[in-house]
Amino acid sequence: MEKNSIHGMWSSRLMFILAAAGSAVGLGNIWRFPYLASDNGGGAFVLVYLGCIAVVGLPILIAEVLIGRHGRMSPINTLRKLALEQGSSRGWVGIGWLGIAAGVLILSFYSVVGGWTLHYTWLYLKQLLGGAPLGDPASVFQSLLSNPLELTFWHAVFMLPTAAVVALGVETGLERAVRYLMPALLVLLLLLVAYGVTTGRMADAATFLFRPDFSRINGGVLLSAMGQAFFTLSLGMGTMMTYGAYLPRAGTSIPRVLTVVALTDTSIALLAGLAIFPIVIAFGLDPAGGGPGLIFNSLPLAFEAMPFGTAYGLLFFGLLAIAAWTSSISLLEPGTAYLTERSGLRRRKGSALLLAGVSWAVGLLSVLSLNVWSDVKVPANISVLGGKNIMDVVEFLANDLMLPLGGLLIALLAGWALSRTILREQLSEMPEWLFNTLRWTWRIVAPPLMLIVLVQAVS
Ligand code: TRP
Repeated sequence: MEKNSIHGMWSSRLMFILAAAGSAVGLGNIWRFPYLASDNGGGAFVLVYLGCIAVVGLPILIAEVLIGRHGRMSPINTLRKLALEQGSSRGWVGIGWLGIAAGVLILSFYSVVGGWTLHYTWLYLKQLLGGAPLGDPASVFQSLLSNPLELTFWHAVFMLPTAAVVALGVETGLERAVRYLMPALLVLLLLLVAYGVTTGRMADAATFLFRPDFSRINGGVLLSAMGQAFFTLSLGMGTMMTYGAYLPRAGTSIPRVLTVVALTDTSIALLAGLAIFPIVIAFGLDPAGGGPGLIFNSLPLAFEAMPFGTAYGLLFFGLLAIAAWTSSISLLEPGTAYLTERSGLRRRKGSALLLAGVSWAVGLLSVLSLNVWSDVKVPANISVLGGKNIMDVVEFLANDLMLPLGGLLIALLAGWALSRTILREQLSEMPEWLFNTLRWTWRIVAPPLMLIVLVQAVS
């Protein structure tokens, strides 16, 4: 086993935790989780989601990181190395290719939404400095979405620093970004939850989020919850495999640090819910059925009416932008690492810029599908894709097909193809019974669940 990665290493275990949590905590936690909970029956969704994280998410997260730490390269080359070492099929390398493609696709729309958060941060900053109030939130959001130039501009403003940080590399780029941003994110979020308490509606929010209505649980809820568990833990495309490649060996128990990462990620999603729903409820809005516009349509309404609302709005959208940014970095890193390896390590900057550029260009499709091409839809008679616009199609391909497929293959690889010796070498601290449980989870628990999710997605 290689001792170090040629791309550099996290300088400590804590840095790995911050980087992995930085990847995990993103728009998925603060934008997507609240609206999915809102649309899927609150507590019913949250319960299924927690189950998915524990039963499938964490085991696959462990598999990705241990494979990465064994191979110490980009996913493609790590998998190539493993196949050679074990004499197993070269086909596993496909997981790496699938991952890079998924990364470029996800980053393409992730950065568009990241751009929305920057736009709102800017609006509140302007207002705080004496500008005019935002006005009616629904029309502010609509006018942003209907303006392709504005969207493209913020999409670029979001993508550029992402590319720059990845270009700088593991220690000088990624690590320096998460070291300051992650603590800042936590402080901001706690401030927002504290404000939620002062609205007097925290109990209602908690009831909405945590009281499961079992009659609401159905296949659709399971599908969204599993998809969300994958998305929020950054699984299925090699992000965590790449971050694992930079994880030092000595004294770091993979299951232990990843439990911390998964708990942090889950807590932050729940805290985001506890920051958002009290305000939504206190201002007489319906917590159910908010859709993707939930935070953009409803929160500004509250910010307008409440004391220090402008400052609060600035904090909230700033927080969201930071969270999105530490995740977008992780979407770009696996592909960049691969291209850098191909160039004999001479071209990290060029690789990061190239991939970010491609992803930005693909993102223009999402931008246009929100306005100029909003009528361009897949014909209704084409089964699963029918009625979707371009942004929905890209999101569907990446989130609903590629990530679960990647996850399924990773579970099969870890469970059936990797030798016990390699697994044990990476998981030496684990008690035997737990190790066996984990291995059987990869073998027979996760694959059928992932398969159900995949089949459901296409039927
Ligand atoms: N986990 C991030 C979020 O919740 C998004 C993300 C970053 C991601 N890297 C990923 C999703 C890799 C899937 C795969 O916002």
